[in-house]
Amino acid sequence: MSNVHLIDHPLVQHKLTLMRRKEASTNSFRRMLGELSTLMAYELTRDFPLQDIEIETPMEKMTGKVIDGKKLALVSILRAGNGFLDGMLNVVPGARIGHIGLYRDPETLQPVEYYYKMPENMGERDVIVVDPMLATGNSAAAAVQQLKEKSAPKSIKFMCLLAAPEGIKTMQAAHPDVDIYTAAIDRELDSHGYILPGLGDAGDRIFGTK
Ligand code: URA
Repeated sequence: MSNVHLIDHPLVQHKLTLMRRKEASTNSFRRMLGELSTLMAYELTRDFPLQDIEIETPMEKMTGKVIDGKKLALVSILRAGNGFLDGMLNVVPGARIGHIGLYRDPETLQPVEYYYKMPENMGERDVIVVDPMLATGNSAAAAVQQLKEKSAPKSIKFMCLLAAPEGIKTMQAAHPDVDIYTAAIDRELDSHGYILPGLGDAGDRIFGTK
């Protein structure tokens, strides 16, 4: 699982456990997802290259470091991916946002695309594709495929909260070049494609729907 990065920071693990509980309210689920996405974005941006710039403090001139002209786009897989965006923008406020709308056919569990909108100059951008649940991996693999075919970004990372072994396998087979960042790898999928033990339907829990 060399391209899978488990973000096992104690703060991430603590918040994830609280979110998983069935009695967590929409309010607290959303708040913790926001906090978790900020912490995870911090980890995902760890390898961003820095460049030197000359600045002047109130005391004297110095050489400081800033992120190297990075052109970043966050690409949300609708609708649950949107739950990650605000928290991530806390650490990368200038990132552009793209959306891919895919729904999972309940019979075949295969993804069907209904929306695709990206910022301009995608060929120059590093992209983080976000979706809280990497379950079968079919939606994530299809989203990354669309992204490669239609927008050909410079690089792609995938970030989720929970990954099932099946989803990791699908992604690794379809896109071995895409690193996966997750807060946990759960046991398995049930017959409806839900992650066990999981946290239920992420979209419903974020948006308070049923
Ligand atoms: N999508 C969800 O929201 N939850 C799962 O367990 C699997 C896919």
